[in-house]
This record gives sequence, structure tokens and C-alpha cells, in this order.
Amino acid sequence: MNDVEDRVNTLLGQMTLEEKIGQLNQPMIHGLPGLDLLRQGKAGSIINAFGALSGQGFDHLNSAEQCNALQRAALESRLGIPLLFGRDIIHGQRTVFPIPLAQAASFNPSLVEQINQIAAREASALGIRWTFAPMLDIARDARWGRIAEGYGEDPLLTSRMAAAAVRGFQGDDVSQPDRLVACAKHYVGYGAAEGGRDYEQAEISEPTLRDVYLPPFRAAVAAGVGTIMSAFLDLNGMPATANRRLLTDVLRNEWGFDGFVVSDWESVGELVQHGIAEDRAHAAALALRAGVDMDMVSGAYLETLAENVRCGRVTLAEIDEAVRRILRIKCRAGLFEHPLTDPERAIHDILTPKARELARQAARETMVLLKNERHLLPLRDFRRILVAGPFVHATGELFGTWTMDGRAEDAVPLDQAFQAIAPAGTDLWFAAAPDLALSRAHYADAVVLLVGEHPARSGENANVSDLGLPPGQLEWITAMAAIGKPVVLVVFAGRPLAITRAVAQAQAVIYAWHPGLEGAAALAEILFGLATPTGRLPVSMPRTTGQAPLYYAHKPSGRPLEADGPFRTRYVDIPTAPLFPFGYGLSYTSFSYSDLRLSSAHMRGTLEISALITNTGERTGSEVVQLYVRDLVGSLTRPVRELKDFQRITLQPGEARRVSFILREEDLAFTRADGSWGVEPGRFKVWIAPHAEAGLEGEFIL
Ligand code: BGC
Repeated sequence: MNDVEDRVNTLLGQMTLEEKIGQLNQPMIHGLPGLDLLRQGKAGSIINAFGALSGQGFDHLNSAEQCNALQRAALESRLGIPLLFGRDIIHGQRTVFPIPLAQAASFNPSLVEQINQIAAREASALGIRWTFAPMLDIARDARWGRIAEGYGEDPLLTSRMAAAAVRGFQGDDVSQPDRLVACAKHYVGYGAAEGGRDYEQAEISEPTLRDVYLPPFRAAVAAGVGTIMSAFLDLNGMPATANRRLLTDVLRNEWGFDGFVVSDWESVGELVQHGIAEDRAHAAALALRAGVDMDMVSGAYLETLAENVRCGRVTLAEIDEAVRRILRIKCRAGLFEHPLTDPERAIHDILTPKARELARQAARETMVLLKNERHLLPLRDFRRILVAGPFVHATGELFGTWTMDGRAEDAVPLDQAFQAIAPAGTDLWFAAAPDLALSRAHYADAVVLLVGEHPARSGENANVSDLGLPPGQLEWITAMAAIGKPVVLVVFAGRPLAITRAVAQAQAVIYAWHPGLEGAAALAEILFGLATPTGRLPVSMPRTTGQAPLYYAHKPSGRPLEADGPFRTRYVDIPTAPLFPFGYGLSYTSFSYSDLRLSSAHMRGTLEISALITNTGERTGSEVVQLYVRDLVGSLTRPVRELKDFQRITLQPGEARRVSFILREEDLAFTRADGSWGVEPGRFKVWIAPHAEAGLEGEFIL
């Protein structure tokens, strides 16, 4: 540790102002003005992206040779400070895993850790040592396209996944050449964009910010995340990229974060458009002084900081501090020891059988079975099965948003994956066109309909005003259902779509998200019973678009739904509750919950809460047992339920197991009316539950 600080300070003592400012600058690789810029020490990092649209397509130009060539130029600079190459490695690099929202459906942090460990190995083989992930934005409005990139609506689930993701990328020792420095983004409140419109402002109260939006970032900091990205948005009137209170007072002074903060793409320059900076020089000064150490792409730091120092708008000490943080992370990442990447690694470390197997397992663990009337699934005894819908020949369409390094040809096409996995003797017919599908359906014994949204309809700035299936798909489902054959609906999506009418017309429904390059095979395994679904919803599924924002941990209201009388919180046209609640998901077997026990009626320090979970069905299956609490009276209103813990267990048919949770007093803490954080004594409800709307209920007093 001291070695790092000594090295940083020694370097700092040798640097000119220009060289210091260079470290704060992150240009993008495409359109880089030339190697001389690097030889002059005018870049601290390079973002390997072809432009602002990177997240929406493929871009395979990245290689170890390319990074090495740039790195050599940087090493030729006066002080030879190596570059840190950054890239968006969001859900795998070449091996594309399910989207992060799907990963959250696994309720399995260890899976998330393993996924990101593989992602780190693959990306680092190409010279990348820094990823702009994990995205930790709580998202409660599915219109927002970036809901796909995070872990859903819940702060506890997101915090667990945050820590796991950071561990996966960085490992115990981020200086190992096969690790990536992680970047928790987008700090903070970005998911609360008004109307679900990306880049839009948000108004978030201080208690909600503290209790809902900040905890995942705090968990990432506690897990040792190296960097944080400031968000694009205007939060409560102060753009996040100029928010000194959040970037410095909270992040550094309260939480002790000692890594560096990078802006989002051009968000330093955009302070001018926000209307809080006169010009780019003013914008650069505001951002730097707020605590943004590195300027992603805008160039405003490089252009204006020297002048800002000369005119006294920014102090040398402020520049030094930003440089120090960046150099610290470069040291920790071992860049001074291993600045170059062995190009041979790309041959051995990318798309290995082990990586593909993990991608398959992840896809299996993340699909959510929403409906299964009369045990239609797994499909048995159907000789002729029609597989129809726009995704019948899908390959890269299964990847999801932000898969620059994915290659459609790496994915086995869905129809081929089905052929390989369906039991011998099954006739599979495929039809991507509606008329062919309709005519064939008459002769089929069962129909599997593959619908949903294309990845381009999900992700950054891919917001929708209508959460229904894309145009034409519901009509297709209705026409198929009218033929009267059993229909299994499979939905691929980057968000929880409002599929109320579609669900009503199908006998079985699987929510498959964007499942990555092994998604088709995993789906076939689930459909034909080689695997049992285990995913649980990390978001509440809306009935209609008009329910957004929708989340289970809402406040009770003075006129709660369950109160008597007509003047209650509700819609006149639909039920208030979601179509499927947070935490929900079926299995091919069934589970019963019984015998809730609390170690005491009074909590002092900790409380043990347990229940007996029994597999009451005929197959082995996994259940995600969830612990919720409600603080019945607070100095500020408290959510009707909050997830406090969960455990995934696997039980054989007939097997029963007592699942127990230890609740600690600090798990009950929140932001109180006086602004302080802590617990308030009183009565609490507690549930051990299969999802947010059910469970065995108990009570205790703190
Ligand atoms: C996104 C970030 C991303 C960055 C770099 C921005 O447009 O908001 O999430 O990391 O681009 O590609």
C-alpha cells in the first residue's frame, strides 16, 4: 500500500502541469489524433470504442496488438506512465452471458462473480484492463431502456450483485494481468429518469437517495471497486457530474473511496448544455472541483485545465489529487509491471469450452417460468411441435444490449439448438412467418411461440412509451391461441414487458430475457425438461405501461389498497398489483413453506428467523427463499416490505429443510426524519416468502 503511495508521490513530483492534465484525459481510440499525443503524455486512458453508439452494435476492432502499439507510444513519453485501456465489458466479452437484469434473476451472486471473472480474463487478453461495469442503477420504470444493464428494482439484491460483480472483475488482486478494474456506474440516480427517458432529470428525496439509490454504490466501494462513473443526469437540479456533495462528501469523505471517478461520455462538456456552466472551461472547473478525476472523451480537461489553473479557478492541489487517484489505480492494476499484453493469450483465453458452459448455466439459471398450466412444461409426449415467431432463427438477437465483442456466428442458431436437444422422435417444425406458422399449427400437437424485443430496442437511449410486445406480436399470439393447441410462450426482452393479454392466452410462459450466446440451448433444455427453471423476477412485472414506475417496496399510503372504502390508492381500470410480483418464479416442482420460527419475540442485536421449506413435487428443484421485513411505525414512512436476505436451496422430491436467516439490527437502519441513519425501536413484521406478495408472517419488537 505504502509502496503504491510512494510511487505515486514520486511520479507526481516529476510531472509538469501538462503531463498531469494529460493523465486526466481519456480520448477514444477511434479518431485518436495520433501516437504523438501519447508520446507527449496527453492521455491517461483510452476508451476502446468506435463512438457513442458502441453499445448498440458489434465492433471487433479491439486487439492486444492494437493496445500494445498505443501502449508503447505512451511508454516512450518522458515519464513512461502506462495507459489504462477501458471498454464496456457489460455481460461478457466474446462469451456473451445473459444481460445483467437476467443475471439478477438468478438470485445467485456467485454466478455473477464467475461470469465477470471470465469476462475479465477474455477482455484482458485483448489489452483491456478496465471495464465500465457493473451498472448499479436501481430501475423502477421499465420504459427506461437501460433497465437491462442493471440488477433491477431492489437495493439489497443490487448491492449483493454489485459486490459479486466487483469481486468477479477485480479478484483478490487486481494487479493480476487477467483482471479488470471495475467501475460502478452511473453515480447516481440515473435510473430514476423522468418518464423513463434516458438522460432526463430526476428528483429524488434525500431519504430515498440514501436508502434506495446509494446503497449499491456503497456496497461496491466496500468491495473495493477501483473506479466510479458519474452519471449524465441532472439530479435535483445539480448534474451528477458537478455534484460535489455526492462525489466528494459522500463518496470519499463518508465512505472512504480512494479510487478515481471518471465522467460519463462527454458529460463534462455537457455541463454547458445543462446550463450550469458558461463554457467548457467553466464546465471542466466545476467537474474537477466536484470530484470528477477523469474526463471521458469530452476533451474539456485537456483543453482548459491549464488555463483554469493559471486564472485560479482550479488549484494545483486539486489537479494533483485527481492525478494521484488515477496513478494509484494504475499502480494497483499492476500496469507499471505489466503494461503490455501477450497476444497469444487471445488464442487460449477467449471463448473457452468452460466459458461457454458457464454461459449455458447462466442462461438456464436466469430464465423465469411465469406460468405452467396443468404442467404443460416440460414438453413430453408431443410428437409434432411447431416452433414459431420472430426469434426462430435467432443468433445474435439473443445477446442483448452492449455486446460490442459478441459475434453472432458464435451462437448456435436457435432452431439448430432445439434440434440437438429435443428428444429423439420429436418432429420440430420451424416457422418465422405468421402465415406459415398458422397453417402448420393445425397439424402440430403443441406450439412454442418465440416473441419479444430485439436487442436494439433495449439499452442506452432505447426507451419505449409502450411496454407491450412490439407491434404485431400480440396479434400473432391471439391467432395461434385461437387454433386451440397448447401454446408455450417464450419472451426475449431487455425489460419486463407488459404481457398481460399474451400470458392469458398461453398455457405456459417462460421469460427468457436476452440470454446470451448459449441462450437457445439453455431454453431447449428447460422446454424439454433437461433442466428445471430456477429464475425469479428481479423486477415487478407490470400489467400495463401506465403502472410505471412500479416496485414492491412502495410506501403504505394513508389510504392503502387493502383499506375499506372506495377512496383508496388504485386504478379504476386495472388492479394495482403487478402481473407478477418481485421475486416470483415457478419451478417444475412445488415448494411449501411452514413452521416459521423466530429465536425471540424481541430483537437484541440479532434475531434468527427460520422456516421449513419442503419440495412437495416430483422433481428436484431450486427455490429462492426470501426474507422480508416491514418497520410498522417510523419517524418517516417505511416501505410495505423490504428484502433483507435470500438463499437459494436445492431440494430433492419430498425433501424438507429448515432455512434460517440472521437479521442484524443494522439491517433495519434507514434515514430517519432528522436525517441521521439508524434504527428506531418498535414493532416489525417479518416474512419468509417465495416472493414479495406471499409468505409466512411473523412479528418482533426491536
Ligand atoms: C454510457 C456509459 C458507457 C460509456 C462508454 C456512455 O454513453 O452511458 O454507460 O460506459 O458510454 O461507452
